[in-house]
Amino acid sequence: MPLAMNVYGTDRRLLKALDLKSYAEISERIGGLLKPELPHGFVGVREAFGKLGAMTHVPPRKVKDAPVQEVVLRGDDVDLEQLPALFTWPKDGGSFFNLGLTHTKDPESGVRNLGLYRLQRHDKRTIGMHWQIHKDSRNHYQVAARRGERLPVAIAFGCPPAVTYASTAPLPGDIDEYLFAGFVQGKRIEMVDCKTVPLQVPAQAEVVLEGWLEPGEMLPEGPYGDHTGFYTPQEPFPALTIDCVTMRKRPLLQSIVVGRPPTEDGPLGRATERFFLPLLKIIVPDIVDYHLPESGGFHNCAIVSIDKKYPKHAQKVMHAIWGAHMMSLTKLIVVVDSDCDVHDLHEVSWRALGNTDYARDLTVVEGPVDHLDHASYQQFWGGKAGIDATRKWPEEGTRATAAGPTWSSPTRTRPPWSTAAGRSTGCDLGLRRPPAAAGTHKGVPAPGDDRALGLRPALRLHRRPHRDVRVGREHPLGPAAPGHRRHGRPAHLRDGRQPDHRPRDRRP
Ligand SMILES: Cc1cc2nc3c(=O)[nH]c(=O)nc-3n(C[C@H](O)[C@H](O)[C@H](O)COP(=O)(O)O)c2cc1C
Repeated sequence: MPLAMNVYGTDRRLLKALDLKSYAEISERIGGLLKPELPHGFVGVREAFGKLGAMTHVPPRKVKDAPVQEVVLRGDDVDLEQLPALFTWPKDGGSFFNLGLTHTKDPESGVRNLGLYRLQRHDKRTIGMHWQIHKDSRNHYQVAARRGERLPVAIAFGCPPAVTYASTAPLPGDIDEYLFAGFVQGKRIEMVDCKTVPLQVPAQAEVVLEGWLEPGEMLPEGPYGDHTGFYTPQEPFPALTIDCVTMRKRPLLQSIVVGRPPTEDGPLGRATERFFLPLLKIIVPDIVDYHLPESGGFHNCAIVSIDKKYPKHAQKVMHAIWGAHMMSLTKLIVVVDSDCDVHDLHEVSWRALGNTDYARDLTVVEGPVDHLDHASYQQFWGGKAGIDATRKWPEEGTRATAAGPTWSSPTRTRPPWSTAAGRSTGCDLGLRRPPAAAGTHKGVPAPGDDRALGLRPALRLHRRPHRDVRVGREHPLGPAAPGHRRHGRPAHLRDGRQPDHRPRDRRP
C-alpha cells in the first residue's frame, strides 16, 4: 500500500489543503462568531461552538455509501503488516502509525472525541493506543474501565485535511471536533457508520481500523523518538485488537515524521496558535497577541502581550493561562507590553533579558506538565516560570530618578511603521511598511517574497536608497557607490554559492 508523507509539511501546503489564504482567515471568522454578545470564560467558548452546531453548512452529514468501505476485511483476514508503518529512530521500540485519527465516545455522555495519537503496531491485529494522561480519549477509556465496559474505537487514515487538523486541535472534551472541521472546511463532513463498532468515521477516508478495547488490556509501548527530541521511555498503554479493516479499493495511507522541532507538524501547530487566539482571548481577555515558539514544541513556552492596566497585571495573566485548558501545561510564560511584536524573538528577548529584576519579575509555580516532559523530576508535574517583561510601574518598585524610572526612555528606535508618528516621518524618509499579507505568522509569503528566505524587514529597509538611514544589518558588500543601490544578495551568495575567501591572485 503506498504511503503519503509530508503532506502538511509547509504552511503553504497546509493552507492550500484547508483552502485558506492565511491562518488569520479562520481567526477572523472565529472572532466574528464570538462577537458581540458571548460571555467570557469557558462558557463563552462553549456557546460559540453551540452557534457552530446551528449553522447549516457546519455539522457533519451522514451518508450510507462510502468509498472507505469499498473493501471490508474481518477477523483473521485483518493483517496490519500489510499497512506501511514507520520505524523512524534507531532506538524506537517498533513500528508506528503516526497519522491515524482515533475516534471514541464518552460511555456516559455519548459525546464523541477525535484525537491524533500515535499507534504502535504490536502484531498483525494489535495496536498500542498512546493517548496521554491529559487527552480526551484516554478519559473515555478511564470512564469505560470504571464501569467495567469495553470501549469501541475506530481509527481513520487519509481523512479530509480539516478533519486531520481538527484531530490535533486542543478543543475542550465536550466540543465536537467535527463541528470545528466543518467550520474550517466551510462545508459539512460526510460521515458513515462503522461496520462493527457504534461510531462514525469520514466517508472519504482511505483506511479505517475498528475494534473494542477491553478494560485493563495493556502492553508496553515505546520507546519512541518523540516531539521533545528525546526518546520517551517504554510505558504500558492500552492494546486494541482490530476486528475489522475497511478501505478503498486502491487505498493510500498517510503518515508523518515525529521528532525534535522543526518537523513536519510545525504548520499544524502554527495553525492552532492563530486559530485559537480569539478563543484564548475569550478565556483571558487581557491578551492582545501570543506566540507559541515551535522550538518549545508549541506547548512549553508562551509569549503573551498585554495592555497593562494595573500593577502585577502580568502575573494575573500568567495564572489565567496556567488555568486555561491545555495551556495549563505551559512551562514558561513571558509577558510583554502590547507594543512588542510577540513573534519577533529578538525584541522579546531584549525585553525579557533587560527589563527585568528577577527577584521581582520572576514567578515560579508548580503544576501539571506535558506527559512527555523529560526534564521534570516527577512525571506529569513540575516547576514553571513566568517572566514579567512589561514596563514596571512605580507601585511595582521602579528605581526613580528626577527624570523618571531609570529605564523608561529606550534609545532603540522601533520600525517607523509601528507608531503613528513614525508612520508619517517614515513616509518622509521613504520607508514603507512591507506588504501586510505576507508576514510569516500572518500568512504565507507570496512567491518571490524574500521573507520566504527569512530576510527581516530591517534588511529590506536597508536596501532602499536612503543610505543615511542606518537600520538593521550592513549589506555584506558594504555601502553602495553614490547613485547606486544594492540589489538583493551579492552575486557570490546567490544560487547557494559559497564566498571564496582566497586572495584574488590565488583564485582559479
Ligand atoms: C504528529 C502528532 C503526533 C501526536 N501524537 C500524540 C500521541 O501519541 N499521544 C497524544 O496523546 N497526543 C499526541 N499528539 C497531540 C494530540 O493530537 C493533541 O493533543 C490533540 O489535541 C489530542 O486530542 P484530544 O484533546 O481530543 O485528546 C500528537 C500531535 C501531532 C501533531
